[in-house]
Amino acid sequence: MEVVPLDTGEDLARLAADIVESLVRRTPAAVLGLATGSSPVPAYRELARRHAAGTAPPYDAVRCFTLDEYIGLPAGHPQTYRETIFREATDALGIARKQVASPDPEPSGLPQAGERYEDAIRAAGGIDLQVVGIGTDGHLAFNEPGSSLSSSTRLKTLTEQTRRDNARFFDSLDDVPRHVLTQGLGTVLRARHVLLVATGESKAPAVATAIEGALSASCPASVLQLHPRCTVLLDAAAAAGLSRVDHYREVHAAKPPWQRYS
Ligand code: GLP
Repeated sequence: MEVVPLDTGEDLARLAADIVESLVRRTPAAVLGLATGSSPVPAYRELARRHAAGTAPPYDAVRCFTLDEYIGLPAGHPQTYRETIFREATDALGIARKQVASPDPEPSGLPQAGERYEDAIRAAGGIDLQVVGIGTDGHLAFNEPGSSLSSSTRLKTLTEQTRRDNARFFDSLDDVPRHVLTQGLGTVLRARHVLLVATGESKAPAVATAIEGALSASCPASVLQLHPRCTVLLDAAAAAGLSRVDHYREVHAAKPPWQRYS
């Protein structure tokens, strides 16, 4: 696991954008996995800024898979994760909406929705780079504590804590759906590179448990310890609970030029 403690959220956004761009430069038809939540938004804005400035690689051939989706919101609702990804990321990069796939929460198809999504990811050749955030309870995508470490895309029920955390995006807590479709922890593990981004002190305990704690379904994000290529970008506040933070900084500073992203 490559853990990179950075000073600020802006540093994090720049490095995350470097990582995405370096992939798309090498692989113009890259398959990106995109997370919602507020953590990746500064990185998406930085990518959009570079795209608008004309310094970014072309995104025309890039395909995207979103990480998860609420069940029960009408199609086109601004808080569906599909609309959120259009708004926060792909539209500004000029990625056609038909090139963005998301789990389909249409009620009659729910029992097969997970399998269909896994099929679609497989048919696209798998995800090259999966961007993820982390919940304050250690959840990854919408895999809550107790999720199978090898799970695939499926329906899950949100914890009260996650619904409260996400209530800020809705008029009231009652409006936050209880059910979701989410890529599984096994799905995330199948991505060729995982990029976890976390900022702010509220994430520090979950980050420390996920990176330095035991591998356990009680902290779903700890499954990333099993991933052969996982990069974790943290601002200073999110890194505050890590006991090996100085070592991670030294490793990053000593990174050979050929391993850098820009
Ligand atoms: C939601 C998403 C997760 C995200 C988490 C953290 O629950 N399903 O993918 O990581 O929120 O969100 P934020 O980045 O806003 O703290």
